[in-house]
Amino acid sequence: MFYKRRRRWEIDEARATPEEVFWNRRKVLAAAGLGAAGIGSIGLGARLLGDSMPTEIAPPALAAADDEPDLTAQYYPFEPNDRFVLDREVTDEALASTYNNFYEFGSHKRISRAAQALQIRPWDIKVDGEVERSFTIGIDDLVKRMPREERLYRHRCVEAWSMAVPWSGFALRAFVELARPLSSAKYVRMETFLDTKVASGQLQFWYPWPYVEGLTIEEATNDLAFMVTGVYGKPLAKQFGAPLRLALPWKYGFKSIKSIVRISFTKERPVSFWEEIQPAEYGFWANVNPEVSHPRWSQATEQVLGTGERVPTLLFNGYAEEVAHLYANVEGEQLYR
Ligand code: MTE
Repeated sequence: MFYKRRRRWEIDEARATPEEVFWNRRKVLAAAGLGAAGIGSIGLGARLLGDSMPTEIAPPALAAADDEPDLTAQYYPFEPNDRFVLDREVTDEALASTYNNFYEFGSHKRISRAAQALQIRPWDIKVDGEVERSFTIGIDDLVKRMPREERLYRHRCVEAWSMAVPWSGFALRAFVELARPLSSAKYVRMETFLDTKVASGQLQFWYPWPYVEGLTIEEATNDLAFMVTGVYGKPLAKQFGAPLRLALPWKYGFKSIKSIVRISFTKERPVSFWEEIQPAEYGFWANVNPEVSHPRWSQATEQVLGTGERVPTLLFNGYAEEVAHLYANVEGEQLYR
């Protein structure tokens, strides 16, 4: 059972964005070409195939999924890890929960209602590839076994908007230890669920479903790589990618794959969802760098959700000290796209 306890990062009601202000803000963003159908439009898949292609299939009126109980709910909020501090205020929960990229449920930001159709309990994660032994683990079992903590992280979308949220979860490194990869494992590949019955976006055949992302073993075992099971001191709401997503705060947000069902350790570098659609614009590394523009827009600044402010973007999204060394010997690669 949940009871309301104010957390150190919560803002009081008076300072939260009222709903009508939020929706007006969306109209302004839309008018500026930054709104629903794609701030800067990572949703270019449909456009590649021609503007006549419908960019949206109307979501069917699906009921919320009949989930089995979350056996880990009593663990929230997780213990804060004070190493991870912010240079800005935490984004208002109501705003972050209603402004989401989750193309499985539509190529716009208002997918939160449609995402409730996703059944997140029971939920199994398959672990395979270059590991001592493949296995499948249920999400509740996984959460119980992992060292749980809460971290305040910035999130920088490639579309040039940003937010800051308190993620609950566990270090990806702890998961890698559990998986026991072989020395032949060079990459970690992650895959989202595939179910066109609940995710109408997956009927959009011009996208290479399921959503796939990947990172090197060195990146995966870096301190910052984080597996997320909750946010704002509660289990993850479905639109954030429940019950398990990734958070890689030094990379553009599209690397932070949602609703993961499979984690494979591979010898070969995986090709990610956006990279497969448009390799000239989205690559494997996708590290944040204000000096390297997206081919169609600048990455020098970002719009901070909920504030109306545009602030300078930082190299590695402000996490250079933690991660720059990972790329010291990487040559001949496009690291910032
Ligand atoms: N994961 C899946 N499976 N599907 C998606 O469409 N969008 C990505 C990423 N993970 C996406 C995804 C993008 S572009 C961003 S910016 C973040 O999720 C958005 O996370 P948020 O909705 O929690 O802000």
